[in-house]
Amino acid sequence: MKKITAVAPSNIAFIKYWGTKDDVLRLPKNGSLSMNLSNLLTTTTVEFNTTFKQDVVIINNKKESIKNNRAIKHINRIRKLAQIKTKVKIVSKNNFPTGTGLSSSASGFAALTVAASHAAGLELSEKELSILSRLGSGSSCRSIPDGFVEWLDANTHETSYAKSLYKPEYWDIADVVVVTSIDKKDVSSTEGHKLASSSIFFETRVEFMKEKMKRIKECLANKKFKAFGEIVEAEALELHSIYLTSHPSLIYLLPSTLRVMHAVKKWREDGLPVYFTLNTGQDIHLICEKKNAKKVAKFAEKVEGVKKTIINYPSDGTRLVEKHLF
Ligand code: PMV
Repeated sequence: MKKITAVAPSNIAFIKYWGTKDDVLRLPKNGSLSMNLSNLLTTTTVEFNTTFKQDVVIINNKKESIKNNRAIKHINRIRKLAQIKTKVKIVSKNNFPTGTGLSSSASGFAALTVAASHAAGLELSEKELSILSRLGSGSSCRSIPDGFVEWLDANTHETSYAKSLYKPEYWDIADVVVVTSIDKKDVSSTEGHKLASSSIFFETRVEFMKEKMKRIKECLANKKFKAFGEIVEAEALELHSIYLTSHPSLIYLLPSTLRVMHAVKKWREDGLPVYFTLNTGQDIHLICEKKNAKKVAKFAEKVEGVKKTIINYPSDGTRLVEKHLF
């Protein structure tokens, strides 16, 4: 069987997936909308080989335990589909910090799904790959198609997938990622989703999601940056208000994250159109027009506690490459 390598981008959700209708199938409570990121990438090489005695998983140069391993659980779904029992070797690398709010599970599972399904001899459509990837990590289904992506609001396994709304070239915007700490978060998003409904605000959030999706899609269709940014920032604050009011509460914001949030408001008052968004973690994403990306990064690097910035533009989804990791 062939050795296959895939490269997948992480994605930033402008409208977030938080809370599920079904934990096992990872069916979200609401639709979400995202952009693939050009410089937050996972590269994964997969080989099934009858000479292998056991499964091996190496992530960021570290050999992982196979017991209860999330990647191997995903490989088992693929082995079942391909009707094979062959052992696998997986080597995967991120070019950015893992577990700090930069959605490494999105790029990680998208790369694994595409590389492993090809290596197992499956020929899946983009939709089927997105559905399969979703079972590994929900948000990873949005890293499969290109550019600006919608994960549809759906109730069944077969209809819950992501599709491209616009190609990456459609809109010249940027996401300046600001790394505020490389410490890993204590509570993963998989665990966090289960706590969402314990917030008294959660049902209210869900009630308004369809309307919010409609509004942001209109902004995207008309490239209305200011209105778009306002929705994006309010959505991130709403997500964190759910975190803060869950039982137990989830507090991901660090002093350096809050300093960047305050700074963004100040820069805006001074005439620079930039808006922040946040995921499950302390790192922060600054959304601006492409022409302002370098300036925003320079400003952010001066905020106390900021470790580094990574400028991203809209990018293609997951693709196969020739160069293998082993
Ligand atoms: O796909 P998960 O389980 O890592 O959850 C992603 C949750 C958020 O990043 C907060 C939102 C999103 O839609 O990406």
